[in-house]
Amino acid sequence: MTNVTSCPDPHSYRLAEKTCRLASRCDVTIRFMQLSADSDWMAQALNEARSALTLASPNPRVGCIIIGVDGRVSGRGYTQRAGGAHAEVMALRDARESGRAVVGGTAYVTLEPCSHHGRTGPCCDALVQSGVARVVASIPDPNPLVSGQGFGRLRAAGVTAEVGLGARESRELNLGFFSRMVRKIPWVRMKVAASLDGVTALQNGTSQWITSPAARKDGHVWRARACAVLTGIGTVLADNPRLDVREVATDRQPSLVVVDSAMSLPLDASVFIAERPLIIYAAVQNDAKQRALEARGASVVVLPGPGGKVDLAAMLRDLGRREINELHVEAGYKLNGSLVREGLVDELLVYLAPKLIGQGQGMLRWGPLTELSQALALDIKSLDMVGPDVRLVARFTGRDRF
Ligand SMILES: NC(=O)c1ccc[n+]([C@@H]2O[C@H](COP(=O)([O-])OP(=O)(O)OC[C@H]3O[C@@H](n4cnc5c(N)ncnc54)[C@H](OP(=O)(O)O)[C@@H]3O)[C@@H](O)[C@H]2O)c1
Repeated sequence: MTNVTSCPDPHSYRLAEKTCRLASRCDVTIRFMQLSADSDWMAQALNEARSALTLASPNPRVGCIIIGVDGRVSGRGYTQRAGGAHAEVMALRDARESGRAVVGGTAYVTLEPCSHHGRTGPCCDALVQSGVARVVASIPDPNPLVSGQGFGRLRAAGVTAEVGLGARESRELNLGFFSRMVRKIPWVRMKVAASLDGVTALQNGTSQWITSPAARKDGHVWRARACAVLTGIGTVLADNPRLDVREVATDRQPSLVVVDSAMSLPLDASVFIAERPLIIYAAVQNDAKQRALEARGASVVVLPGPGGKVDLAAMLRDLGRREINELHVEAGYKLNGSLVREGLVDELLVYLAPKLIGQGQGMLRWGPLTELSQALALDIKSLDMVGPDVRLVARFTGRDRF
């Protein structure tokens, strides 16, 4: 910026001041244009990351766009299946294969480039070797053991590294991954389909179907993004469901978790699907039944809790160790009630059909409370119509602060 303090006479002082104002306005304009371009490119990188929604698990969903010195897109990419290439490597590969230059360019990436030696090598080294001059990243790696190291290696190699643009969106897209890295447990989303008066099944157990085909299809979209779907033995015995993703395209089937204290799961139940991992949490040892379930391909974990039921908190820790980022609960009111009572649910995904059913099974077997101040507070995150039904996403207040 022009130095005005050394100007000798008033005329040249005013001239210098005017020049300075223009220069500084110019600086601000250039910076604003840069920020605006950065935001646009980061929005595209976030879109790339969304393409990895049902693919990346258990890795985070990350997108990358590389812009060449000519201001055009040189390469784009997103995280591949576990063990495959990360977003930065895909974007560099895209640029190489299409013959577009990246030297001196900028890489926009929705998570700090990794610095560790996995199956694909550190992404920050790949970026350094490519010759990009600047990396704009949304958010540091949530893993406390490696956080900041990617930026450190980039800066040490002379690459400008900036962080923060798109941080909120990137974290939202990867809440499950952040939860597993920081809290060591999955992000737990409980899906409920109910009538307008909150009934999820008739007293005789009939629940198919309360909501519309459109709402059920939408439910499969949410199932597909989860690493695992969880249900209770009550639901399996009542409905014999498959609980897989059928109505929408998906890159892989989420695992299935069944909470079944006494290992009552019938060996011919529909939940046994070839190739899909099935984990059964029980509370009581039963060696013969365990062997039979394992012979059908299931993993059985015995975690005794109070009242002869499964220890649900220990189950979540075990699921975290098994790299489950997002857990999608579709259970009946008993298991739903226990999970909420024990403070293990982060978010509700509720479909409400415009019907009244009257007496029946509610959303949760929990309470009765004696004072309204004991009610659990939620924040509504979204409210949409899906066909004739309402879809509501509500988050327990403060649950995402970790
Ligand atoms: N509308 C909907 O959104 C929806 C969704 C799913 C199901 N449903 C309906 O819900 C009904 C079944 O409800 P449900 O409550 O019986 O089934 P559930 O909640 O799926 O399963 C409950 C069972 O889980 C087992 N369990 C093990 N550990 C537990 C713990 N710590 N806390 C609670 N339960 C534990 C218990 O059986 P053990 O002690 O034998 O292990 C318990 O009876 C069916 O009619 C089904 O159609 C509705």
